[in-house]
Amino acid sequence: MALLRALVCCLVAAGLGRPGLGMPLAPAGGPSPAPTAGQFWHVTDLHLDPTYHITDDHTKVCASSKGANASNPGPFGDVLCDSPYDLILSAFDFIKNSGQEASFMIWTGDSPPHVPVHELSTEKVINVIANMTATIQNLFPNRQVFPALGNHDYWPQDQLPVVTSRVYNAVADLWEPWLDEEALHTLRKGGFYSQKVSPNLKLRIISLNTNLYYGPNIMTLNKTDPADQFEWLENTLNISQQNNEKVYIIAHIPVGYLPYSGGTMAMREFYNEKLIEIFRKYGDIIAGQFYGHTHRDSIMVLSDTKGSPINSLFVAPAVTPVKSVLQKQTNNPGIRLFQYDPHDYKLLDMLQYYLNLTDANLKGESNWELEYVLTQTYNIEDLQPKSLYGLAKQFATPGNEQFMKYYKYFFVSYDSSVICDGKCKAYQICAILSLDHISYKDCLRQHYIKHHP
Ligand SMILES: *[C@@H]1O[C@H](CO)[C@@H](O)[C@H](O)[C@H]1NC(C)=O
Ligand SMILES: *[C@@H]1O[C@H](CO)[C@@H](O)[C@H](O)[C@H]1NC(C)=O
Ligand SMILES: *[C@@H]1O[C@H](CO)[C@@H](O)[C@H](O)[C@H]1NC(C)=O
Ligand SMILES: *[C@@H]1O[C@H](CO)[C@@H](O)[C@H](O)[C@H]1NC(C)=O
Ligand SMILES: *[C@@H]1O[C@H](CO)[C@@H](O)[C@H](O)[C@H]1NC(C)=O
Ligand SMILES: [Zn+2]
Ligand SMILES: [Zn+2]
Repeated sequence: MALLRALVCCLVAAGLGRPGLGMPLAPAGGPSPAPTAGQFWHVTDLHLDPTYHITDDHTKVCASSKGANASNPGPFGDVLCDSPYDLILSAFDFIKNSGQEASFMIWTGDSPPHVPVHELSTEKVINVIANMTATIQNLFPNRQVFPALGNHDYWPQDQLPVVTSRVYNAVADLWEPWLDEEALHTLRKGGFYSQKVSPNLKLRIISLNTNLYYGPNIMTLNKTDPADQFEWLENTLNISQQNNEKVYIIAHIPVGYLPYSGGTMAMREFYNEKLIEIFRKYGDIIAGQFYGHTHRDSIMVLSDTKGSPINSLFVAPAVTPVKSVLQKQTNNPGIRLFQYDPHDYKLLDMLQYYLNLTDANLKGESNWELEYVLTQTYNIEDLQPKSLYGLAKQFATPGNEQFMKYYKYFFVSYDSSVICDGKCKAYQICAILSLDHISYKDCLRQHYIKHHP
């Protein structure tokens, strides 16, 4: 196994010399050897704005600018607008033409635009999800896709219910080509499902409806186990463990703390603590966790109650570049490719790709390119919890240059001049290292308050 690891590492190194081309799955020539790494794509937060169009009156470019003047609108979008269809198409075209072989794709939700509630309807939300689904199915007729629902994939937004609904039924119909009967059954009931990646693999995807735990969702107020998802999750993990499977958790709203603000969880604290407890209990079979929603690129490391790292979590940046008028920073559009060991599904590496939106609009063409390879850019061995934990500890040292890179990538290279230290850095570090409220308080004490009484 160590030998295999070393081989994969060298292939990664060889691939780096040709940025954008990615790496070969196996050395060229000779009798075709067994593949050394499996791969899958992760796309999230597409946020299609069907109203996007170039026009002289910049207040009319897109409904998602909410009456503000678009800042510099071009064929691939604007930072005050959600995605034009051409931006989304360019991302999927890039995936299709990248030359990368991937065995599946995960898609963690949020297809409709950020517009006032009265400008959408259940019908419109379903239409946007149907459009995105058809777009993916037309481009990738044979690819297995595992979707998860986002807080915008409902009308009114955020209010995903604990019982069946028109949206749950509609997405079950749309995703029927990808999902098996049992998965469709729970999707219709509560917006979540689990399914093996393929019948002969010991790898299971669990797609959670974490929108049930999102602060603004009033449908779940006072409920201890909305849609009985916790009970289902524990059962599913228990059976997986008995069957010697490994599990990838996918969902829209992430567990843990938001990295850009102090002490704010992405979900209600009660639900966060419950999820963390379950993830700790089954940490040994959860081989990775993948989220969206923040629109930014960040990592998290879940530790057990004694402080040892047990799980790696990845929050992927959005395809939409949208920001509000008041925000200074946003993200360039991003998509990513994960590599895993096909024998035990351990995560080996991640390749982050992005579109320089300014440049694409200037040139009138979309040059999606490799932004970074995770192990290479940070000089770590793999994506295992211990490796990421060591990296985060390194980030925490004063003036650490790796952390400066991390902060640039946080915004998908939108603005590399921004500096993050003091409180900003403490929030980032503690969001990586501490996913429950007790360890988070300790972390802030250690990394910030101690130095700034
Ligand atoms: C999706 O919507 C766009 C316009 O927003 C349209 O051009 C495209 O044809 C639609 N695609 C599908 C597959 O419905
Ligand atoms: C948009 O830009 C125009 C032209 O510069 C300006 O007259 C108008 O006040 C702006 N509108 C808003 C909402 O900022
Ligand atoms: C939740 O509980 C609080 C306090 O017990 C109560 O005031 C509130 O009405 C409840 N909300 C719902 C939606 O049941
Ligand atoms: C899984 O379920 C079995 C049977 O109900 C139980 O005995 C076992 O303790 C459970 N495993 C865990 C880790 O909770
Ligand atoms: C993006 O493109 C613009 C315009 O070509 C350029 O000024 C900027 O440096 C580019 N950003 C990155 C991160 O390459
Ligand atoms: Zn979201
Ligand atoms: Zn979103």
